[in-house]
Amino acid sequence: MPSMQPLQQQIEAVREDLRHHEHLYYVLDAPQIDDAEYDRRMNRLRALESAHPEFIVPDSPTQRVGGKPRDGFVKSPHSRPMLSLDNAYSEADLRAWDARLRESLPSTEVVRYTCELKLDGLSLALLYAPAPDGSARLRRGLTRGDGSIGEDVTSNVRTIHSVPLRVAAEMLAAAGLPQSFEVRGEVVMPHAAFHRLNREREAQGLAPAANPRNAAAGTLRTLEPNIVAQRRLDFYAYFLLHGESEPERGGESLLPTQSAALQALRTAGFRVNNHATTIGSIDEALAFIAAAEALRDSLGYEIDGVVLKIDSTAQQRRLGFTGRAPRWAIAYKFAARNAVTQIKDVVFQVGRTGKVTPVAALDPVVVGGTTVARATLHNADEIARLAVRIGDFVQVERGGDVIPKIVRVVEDAQHPRGTGAIDIPKECPECASLLVRAEGEVDWRCVNINCSARLREELLHFAARNAMNIEGLGDALVVQLLGQSPASVRAREQDSANGLDDAEQREGQSLSPAVGIATNAAVPRAALVRTLADLYSLTRADLLQLDRMGEKSAQSLLDEIEQSKNAGLPRVLFALGIRFVGERTAQVLATHFGSMDDLMVASTVQLEEVNEVGPRIAQAIVEFFHEPHNIELVQRLKDAGLNLTAEKKIASSTLTGLTFVLTGSLPTLTREAAKELIESAGGRVAATVSKKTSYVVAGEDAGSKLDRARSLNIPILDEPALHNLLAPPH
Ligand code: IVH
Repeated sequence: MPSMQPLQQQIEAVREDLRHHEHLYYVLDAPQIDDAEYDRRMNRLRALESAHPEFIVPDSPTQRVGGKPRDGFVKSPHSRPMLSLDNAYSEADLRAWDARLRESLPSTEVVRYTCELKLDGLSLALLYAPAPDGSARLRRGLTRGDGSIGEDVTSNVRTIHSVPLRVAAEMLAAAGLPQSFEVRGEVVMPHAAFHRLNREREAQGLAPAANPRNAAAGTLRTLEPNIVAQRRLDFYAYFLLHGESEPERGGESLLPTQSAALQALRTAGFRVNNHATTIGSIDEALAFIAAAEALRDSLGYEIDGVVLKIDSTAQQRRLGFTGRAPRWAIAYKFAARNAVTQIKDVVFQVGRTGKVTPVAALDPVVVGGTTVARATLHNADEIARLAVRIGDFVQVERGGDVIPKIVRVVEDAQHPRGTGAIDIPKECPECASLLVRAEGEVDWRCVNINCSARLREELLHFAARNAMNIEGLGDALVVQLLGQSPASVRAREQDSANGLDDAEQREGQSLSPAVGIATNAAVPRAALVRTLADLYSLTRADLLQLDRMGEKSAQSLLDEIEQSKNAGLPRVLFALGIRFVGERTAQVLATHFGSMDDLMVASTVQLEEVNEVGPRIAQAIVEFFHEPHNIELVQRLKDAGLNLTAEKKIASSTLTGLTFVLTGSLPTLTREAAKELIESAGGRVAATVSKKTSYVVAGEDAGSKLDRARSLNIPILDEPALHNLLAPPH
């Protein structure tokens, strides 16, 4: 840049840096700096440019809305730009914003704000258009893309259950909506789905998704709608605009107030977050923010702040927009929940499946109000990726109930590098068997099925709330029942304070090593329990020998164990801890087969006939029931009187009993996706048309099957008609 002045060069360098981070964030979903840092750099650029407007260029990050959409989906322009929001990080920021707004409006006017949660997902625009029957149909779903052009992800959006495919005429009337409108909102991946996804990814030897937002973004851009359907995304609506037919209305809300819009969206069948309120002062807004922060960990999905919007659409119109954001709204961002601390040691924890997980023991540090003393390093690949050593200072991050994770190694004058290499041990830290790593997998495992660590984790999983729900059978007791020393108890108490002892997370992710932590080991005693089934032969006398076990607690534990016999087949199946069989799969298997006996003898082919069961799960189930120990275990559970049956039924029954034949190519769904949708609603897909066919779904270039359907008088559906059949009754 020879002709540039030094200042001009300096401004261009700031732009380049921002462009780079926008690319990482918007295109690659792999940000390297957090939002606050990004905003700081952007504000610096704004300040430089406003001091020297002669150097502003049209392609400056300040002059456009966002980053480039990535390839792969058809791009489509937004009816109106999808803007972002200006941010506030303090009470002072909010008050300054409020003062500016009030100055721009006549002093006699009442100003009211809606306060909403700032959901941490990705924004989505949904376009609804008139259908002949007076309803509104979902026509298109667009990601934000660069703000002006989004990616058409309609076929994926259709699989999100919280997105209505159609809003019936009566609902439109009740909500006061026309047939044509646009809804904007946020797609989020709930914590439960995020943990499930990461467990699956880990089981497949893949790197876990960094956070629920990245996982949601990755999922929405998956080219396979059936995968999207399995991952369970949620859509929360927060903005209602005029339809495409009225582009002259600009980015204006369709109703007189934002609070009315939220209510109308709710009435029309959209999911609208319940935590929203309308207020008249910043003091009240601050109270809402405090309440939201207190709720943050228990919501089940990520939020990163609170959004304040001027309630009145007329006032919004008068305030208008700056280049990238509306003046009438602001995002109050919660303080980032990360901190820098030192890795004191790395210990190795053996999980229920024998998987050995490296866990960093940290110099305890408070992150967002919770003390974090440990963080998982997942596996050897993650250790290599972070290039981390014992003694390093690391940045630890925590979001919602998401397990604390190590983001990066920090290195500067105050934080010198550590020197301790982290080596995965060759032997199991608990039973000293040689560890094994299967071809193509990243994880090392202890394959000794009698390993005490595995047994402990198996028992804890078995007794967990969402499994057999045996209250009182916690860590301290399990350790005693197994005749182990109570080494891990204090470690676990720490975890539960961090919200890490949720059974949903326990599988492969709990951070409770029984090693590396100093202990006043009590004298080990003989094991009362050697397999899960032994729980059911425990006697009062057995229990009374244990530490801190009185008559009353012994009896209530026996009652709990007795009661668990009625937990039912889905819970028993989940509790057995078969690889890849989570709660949902256990439920589906139980209702499909109706009994443990039938499931145990099912072949992979029969298992794969079950919706949602693929070859990997089928194989794991067959392997489990081939193992003599497991067959014996089930027999003993049955002898103990456990209920191992379930009512047979199909998961969803909208299309139960109906047979479909697919022909031709459909406008948005692939054949696999259409099949998946039909099957998940209980329908069957056949290859040939016969008198028994209920419907033929025909797309473009349909051939002889369509002719045959006509000659047999079988009703023919196009894709929208299929969606109609599938649409949940709103
Ligand atoms: S309103 C013009 N409301 O935050 C209106 N946005 O930082 C713009 N977001 O792109 C959006 N929760 O993805 C709005 N309750 C909420 C929100 C919300 C999350 C996201 C949205 C937006 C980003 C801006």
